[in-house]
Amino acid sequence: MNKEADLLAQARTARDRAYARYSGFRVGAAIECRDGSVFVGCNVENASYPVTLCAERGAVSAAIAAGKLDFDRIAIVCNATEPVAPCGACRQVLAEFAPDMEVISEAGGQVSRWSLTELLPSRFSKTDLPALPRDVGPETTREGS
Ligand code: THU
Repeated sequence: MNKEADLLAQARTARDRAYARYSGFRVGAAIECRDGSVFVGCNVENASYPVTLCAERGAVSAAIAAGKLDFDRIAIVCNATEPVAPCGACRQVLAEFAPDMEVISEAGGQVSRWSLTELLPSRFSKTDLPALPRDVGPETTREGS
């Protein structure tokens, strides 16, 4: 397990690389996998505004592409005056892989911590789906495939 301060430092570095030319709101995220590896993401905005990718989903995507599926924590750093919680879409994406991961957020010299269950208490998940009619591949996550 990484030190929380190290995770936040990696998120801060990613935040400084954010492509946030439209909002000016820079966000970096560092997701910690169960094996201790860390993957980062930053928000990537676009002239077509809704196409924007959030930092959290960028970090998840990097981790998945590296073959990781089990996450313990995500650290988020932005340039707001106080910590922000992830947007609803990112909460849903995080919940797919780690239903109760810890979410740590830093801004304005303050740090907030939540569990994902606190942030997304009633959620739609893979357990709500009927048995899938096709092979979904070798994916497994902590709570099963
Ligand atoms: N943003 C994130 O990257 N993560 C969040 O959890 C909230 C919002 C980004 C999206 C957009 O580039 C900017 O912050 C303002 O919404």
